[in-house]
Amino acid sequence: MRDFKRYLVTSALPYANGPLHIGHLAGAYLSADVYVRFMRLMGKDIVYIGGSDEHGAAITMRALKDGLTPQEVVDKYHDLFVKTFENVGISFDIYHRTSDPLHHETSQDIFRTLYKKGLFTEEESEQYYDPEVNQFLADRYIKGTCPKCGNPDAYGDQCENCGSTLSPTELINPRSVLSGSEPILKKTKHWFLPLNDHETWLREWIEEGTVNGEFKHYPDEWKNHVIGQCKSWLDGGLQPRAMTRDLDWGVDVPHDVPGHEGKKLYVWLDAPIGYISATRQWAKDNGKKWEKYWKDDDCQLIHFIGKDNIVFHCLIFPAVLKAHGDFVLPYNVPANQFMNLEGAKISTSRNWAVWVHEYIEDLPDKIDELRYCMIKNMPELKDTEFTWKSWQDANNNELVANLANFINRVVVLTNKYYDGKVPAFDEDASFTGSSGDDSEFYDSEMLSLHDELQELCQSIRTFDFRSGLKSLMDISTKGNQLLQYNEPWKLVKEDPETTKTIMNLAIQYVYVLGVAARPFMPETSDKILALLNIKPLKEKGELLKLLDKLCEGETLIKAKHQIGEPLHLFSRIDDSVVATQMAKLVKEEPTPVPAAVATPTSKPLRDPITYDDFIKMDMRVATILAAEKVANADKLLQLTVDLGFEQRTVVSGIANYYKPEEIIGQKVTLLANLAPRKIKGIESKGMILMSENSDGVLKFVAAPEGAENGSQIS
Ligand code: 2FM
Ligand code: ZN
Repeated sequence: MRDFKRYLVTSALPYANGPLHIGHLAGAYLSADVYVRFMRLMGKDIVYIGGSDEHGAAITMRALKDGLTPQEVVDKYHDLFVKTFENVGISFDIYHRTSDPLHHETSQDIFRTLYKKGLFTEEESEQYYDPEVNQFLADRYIKGTCPKCGNPDAYGDQCENCGSTLSPTELINPRSVLSGSEPILKKTKHWFLPLNDHETWLREWIEEGTVNGEFKHYPDEWKNHVIGQCKSWLDGGLQPRAMTRDLDWGVDVPHDVPGHEGKKLYVWLDAPIGYISATRQWAKDNGKKWEKYWKDDDCQLIHFIGKDNIVFHCLIFPAVLKAHGDFVLPYNVPANQFMNLEGAKISTSRNWAVWVHEYIEDLPDKIDELRYCMIKNMPELKDTEFTWKSWQDANNNELVANLANFINRVVVLTNKYYDGKVPAFDEDASFTGSSGDDSEFYDSEMLSLHDELQELCQSIRTFDFRSGLKSLMDISTKGNQLLQYNEPWKLVKEDPETTKTIMNLAIQYVYVLGVAARPFMPETSDKILALLNIKPLKEKGELLKLLDKLCEGETLIKAKHQIGEPLHLFSRIDDSVVATQMAKLVKEEPTPVPAAVATPTSKPLRDPITYDDFIKMDMRVATILAAEKVANADKLLQLTVDLGFEQRTVVSGIANYYKPEEIIGQKVTLLANLAPRKIKGIESKGMILMSENSDGVLKFVAAPEGAENGSQIS
């Protein structure tokens, strides 16, 4: 770990084509935010860059589906992102956007430089084209079967099932997303980056951490799965990659480049350049020089991303930066793996997600609880899972029972015994029954606090945020033990002097927790410090100062300082809150995003599907044989249904609409080939079809009269 003069941290720019879910947060934002806040607390010169990725087929496809212009789509989601990030405390120094003219200018400049240096090849190639709508089918305009995992709905640029990066010609049975028809191949000319020419230096850079023998980073500080993915790309042989597209939305190929007409920059060329444009804008707004962060070797560049973005940040963008010649290369790319949700992959199209803006709406006073649970489960090295139960447990068993409990006891006792004034302790007093004196004990406790804090810092520096959070809670555990072991509520009568020492120490613990909580739970940090009657941190070197003081054996909160009144930091979360959130998931309906324009009275139509999509659903008639309530889930019933050829279990979110006993023998319709899913620990195979009546009550979709169990509905 090397110290640098400056630090530049980026989080992947999310596509402005749909709301953010918890998988986004876990991937690229919370990790970066913890790191950046920590570095600020250590007094580092650090800039944190974010912004919306507003180009590419992801945007135009959404516009097509929603009947909006691409600009309307990006405006809507960019605004939502700004609010969402602010509400969950992601502390960007700038949140920019790639539709901004400064970004167009920056990416065109970089394209032009590479073009003038002769670093692109111009190639005429055959690309898929939809003759029905007269359009080339780049990236997401084409779907087909993934050659790696067999997912029938892989996009031309990526398979969302296995995370592979693809090119359209790799797809099996390709089809146009626009018309559903089979595309034809048609010639078109594009500028390619010959990545094969960059293979040798990229391999040296990834594997050795050097470029032409010159130090760039320590490879053993990189995560194994990141290096592994890069090596497997390199071993497979890099291919030239088109840097332009035939599209009408995006950054124009510079108009001084002959043949630019109708061509836009490839979104994966312009998006990472967005980090540079955003830095330029930030520098402009703050009277700084952006070049100090991008063109000076004494700046450490770190990209926080999800694992599906590794190739772009570790191979393609570095190739662009190096080809250009002036820029630093990323020092580390601590990509996270994926966070699953309640036993299944998060899926935007299936609405299997916890939408962050909805969480904020439903649970506005539980933001740090979310941050805590997500950091605790951060998919740093492998995929992890978010469950509402684990969120509840983390809150009730850790935040409430440990952290809040300790701090509350300290504040209550200090107010009770000392009128809220930090007690001075007598350096010469000694513990009843102890050999050493109080001040020896005090000093050694302060030193061990220092060591524990150092451990926390080291974990954050090495991107091990889960361990960092654990260190924070370990400090709180030790604080609790200090009280539990010495029982100041009893000791105060027998040995008031030693009680003062214990309570003074406990207050120092609370202060340390208040500062150390800041990167993980910023609001909680403010609240803890408010309990001590101390102003919120400005994130300007306070942790560094604290460590120095601890090292010097200096008391952090001086005797006689007046603290605040007791106040509960966290409160228990009931089962009903979990059940409400689970029921939202079980409902499986796309959630309308707050509309920028008028709200329609009926639910908006879902995204169009093709006949191929429809035919995949196998709906059958079934009879309910048994029904019972699911424990700890107000809205769920566990049903046994008879399909004629088999009986199976289905968990359905209908307890608010039907009593178990009234539905036995009822004929229903069942989506029978829905992949099995565990709900509240019960494997549910299929989904009963429901429809809302005019009172907003869900009712079974009736099976056709006289239909046999197992007969197909088509
Ligand atoms: O995967 C994504 O959501 C991309 N929009 C990430 C872009 S990161 C960067 F390059 F801008
Ligand atoms: Zn796949």
